[in-house]
Amino acid sequence: MANVLGVGIATLDIINELDHYPAEDSEQRAVAQRVELGGNVANSLRVLRQFGHPVEFAGVLAEDADGRRIADLMDRYGIETRHARRVEGHAPTSYITVNRATGSRTIVHWRDLPEFDLGAFMALDPSEYDWLHFEARACDETAAMLALSRARVTDQPISLEVEKDRPDLDQLWSFPDVIFFSRAFAHGRGFEEPAAFLREARGWAPQAILVLGWGSGGAWLSRPDETEPAHVPARPVDTVIDSIAAGDTLIAGFIHARARGMGSLESLEFAVRLAERKLMQAGLAGLGPNDPADDPDLLCRLEDLEPIDAIGVWPQGRASGGPAPLIVVRHGERVCAWRNVCPHNGSPLSRERHDFLETRQGERQLRCNVHQAFFQLDDGLCTAGPCEGQRLEAVALERVDNRIYLADRAPHGNAPPATHREGSVQR
Ligand code: FES
Repeated sequence: MANVLGVGIATLDIINELDHYPAEDSEQRAVAQRVELGGNVANSLRVLRQFGHPVEFAGVLAEDADGRRIADLMDRYGIETRHARRVEGHAPTSYITVNRATGSRTIVHWRDLPEFDLGAFMALDPSEYDWLHFEARACDETAAMLALSRARVTDQPISLEVEKDRPDLDQLWSFPDVIFFSRAFAHGRGFEEPAAFLREARGWAPQAILVLGWGSGGAWLSRPDETEPAHVPARPVDTVIDSIAAGDTLIAGFIHARARGMGSLESLEFAVRLAERKLMQAGLAGLGPNDPADDPDLLCRLEDLEPIDAIGVWPQGRASGGPAPLIVVRHGERVCAWRNVCPHNGSPLSRERHDFLETRQGERQLRCNVHQAFFQLDDGLCTAGPCEGQRLEAVALERVDNRIYLADRAPHGNAPPATHREGSVQR
């Protein structure tokens, strides 16, 4: 699986479904309403996670109630946010009207947050990821982040989504390996023919694979070594239920297929078929085989943890907004969990998702951030600090393949013989 970093925007989408599009200055009752995670990169990451890829969002998250809801949804969908920049302010929202008669979606977007910038991006190491995907937004900052990534990575692909025209956009063309264009962007540049647009764009980015989504016209592909673009037609869809995020799904499908080693045309065929499936359902749930939202008891997956790692987890999601109640520890193939409660005075060892490990006397140990007590990873014994000699409280886990659950919440009937139901789990 590919460790995918997505740099861009996350929003809260308030989606009203109507049986016909309303006239201006009229009142109409919605047939249904849902509130969802939105934003181009966030949507693509959500779909990629459903195909088992570890995914991380790098963008700006507001600290208000809507921002916390966005963070909770990302947590629920398995999207890591440790490098997201948290700011005071109002979370971006999209009020979306879906016309059930046609499947069209009309979006009114509101945003006043600062953009994710190079300063925030420098807190992460681009070389840690297998694929880096960017939204073309504030172009000076995006160019700087692309340039830094290009300097730091070796073989990892860098992709760029270009949904709409922006000032100074053309400075981005030289960096990516893959560029995803929207039909609206091609139209905005004066092209009605997808092949003609791609022939023009080939001159902008001669090094890149170019992908152009064309709605019901399927998608087009231009490869650096070929003069004529290739076309993947869309199959007729009986009834379009919901076209929100169909383009983001196309991008996720292409990245997934390429990360699996498929050729670019084969990847585009996979992506177009996936986008067709998306059009025939409301929302993004269940597009891939491993949707975390289908598995609410899942604590984490083995691949969420480095070979020696510790993360805070919230059983059933982060709805409380407080510190994670559990610490899941991986030490090689051994996985165990401790309550995030320090035996010294009952404080959480850390309130962050990734802030538990420190090296002490040459050994990785858990550290309580309050008074600097240290605990061994495998038995929870305090080796230094005010509670020396006491232990963290163990929590029983069950591992099913690469999925980790509380022992009393694991799905029954699927557990392979090698799982254990003890204070710790190892394989
Ligand atoms: S609360 Fe943990 S060392 Fe004091």
